[in-house]
Amino acid sequence: MRARLAAGLLVAGLAALLLDCYSPGRSAPPPSAARVRRPPAPEPAPGAEAARLFWIAQVSDIHISRFQDPKRVLDFEKFCSETINIIQPALVLVTGDLTDAKTKDKLGSEQIEVEWHTYQSVLKRSRVMEKTKWIDIKGNHDSFNIPHLKSAQNYYRKYSGWRKDGSFHYIHSTPFGNYSFICLDATLSPGPKRPYNFFGILNTNHMEELSSMAAESRHSNQTIWFGHYPTSTIISPSPGIRTLMSSATAYLCGHLHTLGGLMPVLHSRHPHGTLELELGDWMDNRRYRLLAFDHDLLSFVDLHFEEWPAVLITNPKSLLYSSPAHEALTKILHSTHIRILAFSPDFITLVKVSIDGVHLGDAHHVSGPLYVLKWNPQNYSEGFHHIDVTVQDAAGKSSTQGHMFAMGENLSLKFGFLSSFILLTDHYILARLLFGVTVAVQIFLLLVFRYLQKPTLKGPPGLVMSTSFSLHVLSKTNTFYYSVLILSLYTVLGPWFVGEVIDGQIGACFSFGVFVGGHFLQGSLTFVVGILQMVFFNLPLMAYLCWCLLLRCQGLSFHSHIYQVRCFWAVPAHLAMALLLTWQLYSCYFLQRTYGTLAFFFSPMKTWLVVLTLVLIWRTWTLSTSELRTYIVEMKNCQSS
Ligand SMILES: *[C@@H]1O[C@H](CO)[C@@H](O)[C@H](O)[C@H]1NC(C)=O
Ligand SMILES: *[C@@H]1O[C@H](CO)[C@@H](O)[C@H](O)[C@H]1NC(C)=O
Ligand SMILES: *[C@@H]1O[C@H](CO)[C@@H](O)[C@H](O)[C@H]1NC(C)=O
Ligand SMILES: *[C@@H]1O[C@H](CO)[C@@H](O)[C@H](O)[C@H]1NC(C)=O
Repeated sequence: MRARLAAGLLVAGLAALLLDCYSPGRSAPPPSAARVRRPPAPEPAPGAEAARLFWIAQVSDIHISRFQDPKRVLDFEKFCSETINIIQPALVLVTGDLTDAKTKDKLGSEQIEVEWHTYQSVLKRSRVMEKTKWIDIKGNHDSFNIPHLKSAQNYYRKYSGWRKDGSFHYIHSTPFGNYSFICLDATLSPGPKRPYNFFGILNTNHMEELSSMAAESRHSNQTIWFGHYPTSTIISPSPGIRTLMSSATAYLCGHLHTLGGLMPVLHSRHPHGTLELELGDWMDNRRYRLLAFDHDLLSFVDLHFEEWPAVLITNPKSLLYSSPAHEALTKILHSTHIRILAFSPDFITLVKVSIDGVHLGDAHHVSGPLYVLKWNPQNYSEGFHHIDVTVQDAAGKSSTQGHMFAMGENLSLKFGFLSSFILLTDHYILARLLFGVTVAVQIFLLLVFRYLQKPTLKGPPGLVMSTSFSLHVLSKTNTFYYSVLILSLYTVLGPWFVGEVIDGQIGACFSFGVFVGGHFLQGSLTFVVGILQMVFFNLPLMAYLCWCLLLRCQGLSFHSHIYQVRCFWAVPAHLAMALLLTWQLYSCYFLQRTYGTLAFFFSPMKTWLVVLTLVLIWRTWTLSTSELRTYIVEMKNCQSS
């Protein structure tokens, strides 16, 4: 009871903590270090000149594939030539997963040289690297099945634009200031094959390196961090990766691909004020992002390939994405002009501005993509306002962008709970906790019912009494008690399987991590798989065994129960178990496809468990009646009473 209470309290505490962490209305105090960086008196404010302004682009998760969707590459080449020609960004950040690196059945994974060849030839044909600063970094797919960085399989070193593994600090220098771009490389080395390559890992050396880069970047006007993984999918030692990047205005990443369309926008803000902006994938969604620093105020827009005109309002900037800790937001109040970047392959004919639904006028062209409209910000100095800009081009296309802005001191907007939960939770810690709880629940049940005195049945048992009765039978029958207990412990202590985690390198997978090539890769996705194993196999198996034993105690045999038990229960119960067993069989096949035949045969948690399951089920029906006699007698007495 006490453990159950403790588990209950734990869950309640966790829920309270979650709500506290992500609930709207929380105004985070900016870190003092970041605050002292900002001079109190604002620098020149946005006006009518095309000064103190530059813009960059980001694209992520391209997944050039030998097997899937050839249009992906064609479109990407068009992006590198046409889109980049129109936008002319100062630099382009490609945040990982340049190639797909999956086998044809999409289950296995390996580096495929042809895919890298394709990537390189797109860069060459489009000459994109001559037109802009092209910074392409690795994602988890680009590090599948790589024993070490110097391996010939590490095609990133040979075919990418940047070609250097590891984190780095790139400074974009302009006449009006220096801008830091810090790449955070959390890809695994050695790089196991999928799926145990979903989380990034930073060790203490990486953290020190990044920490010194963060210190260097303090001399820059603004700092952007970028990487493949969202911070929620990076394992990092104390003080944690979010603290390390707290002086950055934003962290740009990819990896989650809009979660299959469930979360088309994944943006949030760290407790220290840094924005975390996940970008949807190029692979299926053809997304890219445009970011601008205008007078050191960051603005951005997430766009779809070939949807023109592209519009980015740089002043007044969006309130939601404002960070008082990193930006001198009072510049908006001192600005003289509304500023808009508008891009289109065709001549832009109209840039119409309205605030709060009132048409303010048409912005006029300054130079390049910049359009401005004189305004009086004092009129909007209080409360929330909404700006909308509609751009039309000579081809007759038009698009509208808008956002909320405000200049009041204490006004702010909060991000949605779900995107904050996805981006700001350390999912590996949550998964570890839940896995621990599910295993503890099973072991607790087994121990309690083994040593608890069984109460005598009085009258025909209801659902609760039947459940408890069957748990007593299971826990007090040695075969089942020890089998289920050992299975439960084994799920925690493993190994789940031994196989070619990397081609030519035998590794072992445990719930708490993967050993391969003399390295230990800390567990993350393993805990998620562990939870699935517990919830969709180990626990249902125990329930199924209990149910079979209960039927036995009612004096039924395998043959007779089909006729005597109401089909209402029997059919769904067997069907459910058959389904779960099929899933378990599929995961054996999956294991064979992902980590090879050795893994298939040497997998106590998969293939062996299928055998064990069949044996246990067979045992429930063949257990000698004498072993169950006391229960059968009791059941008979109470049923006849
Ligand atoms: C960048 O920082 C320098 C030094 O603090 C400052 O003089 C300059 O005005 C800043 N640039 C912009 C665009 O604000
Ligand atoms: C940018 O950095 C360079 C070298 O680090 C420095 O000489 C220059 O003054 C900096 N520019 C600004 C505007 O701060
Ligand atoms: C904004 O202020 C200017 C000058 O103070 C005034 O002429 C104008 O009518 C105001 N506009 C609005 C929408 O209140
Ligand atoms: C903003 O908040 C601070 C501290 O919470 C307070 O001192 C200040 O008066 C507030 N300003 C406005 C305009 O409400």
